[in-house]
Amino acid sequence: MSPFQLTRTLPEDATEAALRADVLHGLTRMPKELPPKWFYDARGSDLFEEITRLPEYYPTRAEREILLARADGIAAATGARTLVELGSGSSEKTRHLLDALTELESYVPVDVSESALTGAAEALLAEHPELHVHALIADFTRGLALPGTPGPRLVAFLGGTIGNLLPGERAVFLRSVRSLLAPGDALLLGTDLVKDEAVLVAAYDDAAGVTAEFNRNVLAVINRELGADFPLEHFAHVALWNAEEEWIEMRLRAREALTVKIRELDLLVPFEAGEEIRTEVSAKFRQEGVRTELADAGLKLSEWWTDGEGRFALSLSTAV
Ligand code: SAH
Ligand code: TRP
Repeated sequence: MSPFQLTRTLPEDATEAALRADVLHGLTRMPKELPPKWFYDARGSDLFEEITRLPEYYPTRAEREILLARADGIAAATGARTLVELGSGSSEKTRHLLDALTELESYVPVDVSESALTGAAEALLAEHPELHVHALIADFTRGLALPGTPGPRLVAFLGGTIGNLLPGERAVFLRSVRSLLAPGDALLLGTDLVKDEAVLVAAYDDAAGVTAEFNRNVLAVINRELGADFPLEHFAHVALWNAEEEWIEMRLRAREALTVKIRELDLLVPFEAGEEIRTEVSAKFRQEGVRTELADAGLKLSEWWTDGEGRFALSLSTAV
């Protein structure tokens, strides 16, 4: 049997139906909003990879620094034979864990982006030909059915992606992660931390405009998949810090009044000049908040590591 297996838990027509429902719901409400998972078609996944290499986007480098420093400790603490990774993307930083986990037999990357999963698996298998890679195309907010790989299991959720969920969604999500953990299993969670506003905003509004293009890509996905006519250049990228919620908000702002036609939904969507679509939040955390959210989901934080500049944290927790 090939060491690479790709399982689609999201049938393509279900994905299409979910996109239609999200777009119909999100663009007919006030204020308008779209869920962030639709950024990540093949182009969106490539653009995100480009974001991770931008000078302003510090989270990837900060998290990599922590992973490099702590991978051996994580391996010793968990003895993981299976690594499950949610929102794995290119699995680029994950290689530091794979190199350190000496007992590892199976890697289960989970992502909505098929192109990211196949690209990542190809690169990883070249370095770890003995590893069993069981990739899952799945929405991690929808309850996960994992393959029956050997324990102990380490579930990793890196990149600060948990911050892209709203607080209520995070509570539901963490409980579902908790339900995946048997005694001896662990969760490795990456959280970006609250810091100076200028540093945060720059990370989501880079000088080269890559994040702006990434943000507008969700409109390109809707144009292609649902026959819409969003003129991408009519929408300005907006990133702002919401100090009360402690999250970055990404929005697309109509530069002038326009009406967009979405053929497959038989829908006309009017925009006033300056009207915005909220496309994503990226929450920033503090240690006590993370500890409390984990505890509320039945998880006990056992380790908290930050990079040298205290920008980003990795935490390890177990089921209580
Ligand atoms: N872990 C990588 C990528 C982070 S970007 C890193 O740290 O660099 C977020 C990733 O999560 C993308 O690959 C995106 O396709 C995936 N993703 C976003 N929402 C998702 C969802 N609801 N279910 C599964 N994957 C999702
Ligand atoms: N998980 C990433 C983050 O919140 C996703 C991300 C980075 C992102 N830059 C973005 C999402 C720009 C939308 C737009 O940091």
